Amino acid sequence: MTDQTQQDRVLIFDTTLRDGEQSPGATMTHAEKLEIAAMLDEMGVDIIEAGFPIASEGDFEAVRDIAKQSRNAVICGLARAKFNDIDRAWEAVKHAARPRIHTFIGTSPLHRAIPNLTQDEMAELIHDTVSHARNLTDNVQWSPMDATRTEHDYLCRVVEIAIKAGASTINIPDTVGYTAPRESAALISMLRARVPRADDIVFSTHCHNDLGMATANSLAAVEAGARQIECTINGLGERAGNTALEEVVMALRVRHDIMPYDTGIDTTRIMGLSRKVAAVSGFAVQYNKAIVGKNAFAHESGIHQDGMLKNAETFEIMRPEDIGLASTSLVMGKHSGRAALRAKMKDLGYDLGDNQLKDVFVRFKALADRKKEVYDDDLIALVQDATEEGAGRLQVRFLRVICGTEAPQSADLTLAIDGVDHQTTAQGDGPVDATFNAVRALFPHEAHLQLYQVHAVTGGTDAQATVSVRMEEDGKIATGQAADTDTVVASAKAYVHALNRLLVRKQKTDGTGAEVSYKDVS
Ligand code: KIV
Ligand code: ZN
Repeated sequence: MTDQTQQDRVLIFDTTLRDGEQSPGATMTHAEKLEIAAMLDEMGVDIIEAGFPIASEGDFEAVRDIAKQSRNAVICGLARAKFNDIDRAWEAVKHAARPRIHTFIGTSPLHRAIPNLTQDEMAELIHDTVSHARNLTDNVQWSPMDATRTEHDYLCRVVEIAIKAGASTINIPDTVGYTAPRESAALISMLRARVPRADDIVFSTHCHNDLGMATANSLAAVEAGARQIECTINGLGERAGNTALEEVVMALRVRHDIMPYDTGIDTTRIMGLSRKVAAVSGFAVQYNKAIVGKNAFAHESGIHQDGMLKNAETFEIMRPEDIGLASTSLVMGKHSGRAALRAKMKDLGYDLGDNQLKDVFVRFKALADRKKEVYDDDLIALVQDATEEGAGRLQVRFLRVICGTEAPQSADLTLAIDGVDHQTTAQGDGPVDATFNAVRALFPHEAHLQLYQVHAVTGGTDAQATVSVRMEEDGKIATGQAADTDTVVASAKAYVHALNRLLVRKQKTDGTGAEVSYKDVS
């Protein structure tokens, strides 16, 4: 595949809002999904898989509204091999200028056993469902789920059927993250060689990262002829996640000499999206994560710093600016004005509207009063702290905690519930436990705390803490996040934020039945 006359454009198919969002705890609100979709569209993603419309009313509405607001990207909705799934997906995506239906079924022996279909019965179902989708739109993608564990003969047979029935993209998923680069390439080559009319369609690769090989497997598939990569921002996704968009895009860019394929991605938008997805999903990016990790461009050892000062290329294969990491030295303090804040936020990748700037400025002043120097990471934490938006039913109004060497600790909390203030004092084993007990006393609930995580945003004892909280109730999961120089205040706000989101999530599914997962095949 090195012949330069061959098509060398690789389509980027982002599934952050579908495969990423479906990972437990990564639930996003309607507004967050719309904002992320708009950012992906601006970044130059070719196809946005906006959700799984049959899964819930909330999923349907999100896909529909993303389709309505879309500008350039193809908007895709996922559907199982069922007519009503496909119809529902079409109802949602049809509002897009460029809609796509993505339908799939598990084809490996293990997956065929679940609906208990013979090879012939499944082949017929594939023909019927892809034809049904093709009657609605000419942009149909079909996936044999667990393709990498499907018998080659059967895989060729069903891919041929899907192409004949009208699929123009055939996606080959490594659903359980089982394949390895050489095998991933060989599978695409095998299909291209054996399936009739394979050159008329686009082969796509969809890898999970269970063995840490998703990026390598995706790139190997491209070298073998795949021209679409399915991926997510920060590699968000179930278990070990999906292929990370930023990794495949930057690998193709930095090593264009050996992988001469282009994407349409504006890479300077990568950091903004990475931060946004981390904030709304509650899945923080690990410090040493490739491309977007906090340490990815940090050079702390003496030798590295010396080399970097002489020539940045000594230890850097890409520039921070390439992914939208600003390297400005403007430190903000309490005398900084609104214009300086707007300029700084723009450098950091946040184009704030007047109202948002007003709100962030008030919070920035409050922070600057408590903290001498306000660093970039403080501002990012501030702008991403959604707990002040006032949209939720619960709001933390006042908190005072009494701590000491003697347990128990106590928390005096005022919580607004639907606009009315309620006050209580509760005790607990430590200040955070006491605070959470106070919330539970004022607003009794059955949700369980699944995760409680604290990160210092910057160094120093006056650093802000970002707290992430994950709650679960009846299989529904929500994550909350908040930042404050006081860790206990951040904890209270994050807990309440998670509760607010859980309440929204419950409301969305009440009356419409349980949410469906793409793994529910029946
Ligand atoms: O991993 C997978 O197989 C999927 C399919 C629905 C494409 O996400
Ligand atoms: Zn997947």
